[in-house]
Amino acid sequence: MDTGNSARGSFGSQLGVILASAGSAVGLGNIWRFPTEVGRGGGAAFILIYLGFILLLAMPVMLCEFIIGRSARSNAIGAFQKLAPGKPWIAAGIMGVLGGFLVLSFYSVVAGWTLHYTIQSALGQLQGQCSMFNGQSSMDFGAAFNVFVSDPWQPIIYLAVFLLLTHLVVARGIQHGIERYSKLMMPLLLVIILLLVCFSLTMPGAAEGVRFLLQPDLSEVTPDVVLGAMGQAFFSLSVGLGCLVTYSSYFSKETRLVNSAMNVCIIDTMVAVLSGFIIFPTVFSVGIAPDAGPGLVFITLPNVFNLMFGEMPVVGYVFALLFYVLLLLAALTSSISMHEICTAFISEHFQTGRRRAATIVTLICLLLGAFCSLSFGPWQEVTVFGKGFFDLFDFTVTKFLMPLGGLLMTLFVGWYLDRRLVEQQLTNDEALSVRTMRPLLVLIRWVAPIGILVIFLNELFPLFI
Ligand code: PFF
Repeated sequence: MDTGNSARGSFGSQLGVILASAGSAVGLGNIWRFPTEVGRGGGAAFILIYLGFILLLAMPVMLCEFIIGRSARSNAIGAFQKLAPGKPWIAAGIMGVLGGFLVLSFYSVVAGWTLHYTIQSALGQLQGQCSMFNGQSSMDFGAAFNVFVSDPWQPIIYLAVFLLLTHLVVARGIQHGIERYSKLMMPLLLVIILLLVCFSLTMPGAAEGVRFLLQPDLSEVTPDVVLGAMGQAFFSLSVGLGCLVTYSSYFSKETRLVNSAMNVCIIDTMVAVLSGFIIFPTVFSVGIAPDAGPGLVFITLPNVFNLMFGEMPVVGYVFALLFYVLLLLAALTSSISMHEICTAFISEHFQTGRRRAATIVTLICLLLGAFCSLSFGPWQEVTVFGKGFFDLFDFTVTKFLMPLGGLLMTLFVGWYLDRRLVEQQLTNDEALSVRTMRPLLVLIRWVAPIGILVIFLNELFPLFI
């Protein structure tokens, strides 16, 4: 087994490994996208399907990424070049790095909106001054949101600031940047989540929201919901783009891959479900429909915060501010990992320093992100294949590159890589006994690729089912 190359940098501790990987996983996907999908997909029924996909499909892909990354100790493209020189497997790495640029670009637009809402809630503007309590309807927040996102400049400025924050962390390297800030931000994020759950469960009428989350309504489960659940599982665990290939290339030879993957899956799922426990009891307690779509956190919730503020000003103020700070922290720990996919590739492939590579990535994503942002405003009419840039990037990454990348990685590890190398990675050169080795290999070789393939084909050709 490769012992690593210290010049590339490495994580300094097992805690750092878990917090950085969990930081990548926990993001807008958990707090923004997950509750939206749960609202659409029949509450608990969606959650059950989602949990199945995490365990059977996304977790095996995560393990494959860990195996590839740690044995090659290279960026997402370099890893395939090293492990399968001259073979077409490199396509998985190329798709990952391209996906990294696209995902960081559209993700940072939403993160920029979050930054704007964080500042607004800190200034007390979201919670409304008390006089607005009776006057401000959800329409007003909807209109305010639309005015903001369609502005040609403002969202781009927030996007740029957010990308700069991401850049500053990545440019500092693995231990002094990514690991250090993950160790700082992740515990803070977990504390805020717990505080908000306590707040929201004590709201009057919160029980209805809890019931919605826990009672499966199978009548809402359509093929679309099933597809959505797989996309969500992949997006939420950051798998399929080589992000975790890149991170695991900095793992030490003592890092326990199976254990780390389990921990990351548990933390990520816990945060997603807890976000549901923050959002639904609050939303139900003020009597608003839960299936508000992506506007949930930028339209519905400000409305809720406003109502809360009218009744309990301090609680309303603190709740809103903590919520957006939480969202911002989550977005940042994830965007750092997307940035790292591209920065690691550029710095290693073109032999440039990390800082220069990071600057190149930031500038490219600023440009692409601006395209995405403009697609909500002046460029609304500009479409490619019938989609604006934001939707196009989102579709390409979540519906295409992630499942295809995940499929290729399970096939690569399950069928191409030498079985002994795979077992050496999972057992740390036989230092550990992994009792679940057989079932894990069955998941990697059979269950995950077949499952992903069936669902992926259904996404591309909806008539298949
Ligand atoms: N897992 C992140 C989230 O849930 O917000 C999103 C993400 C991070 C996707 C890193 C892809 C990636 F490479």
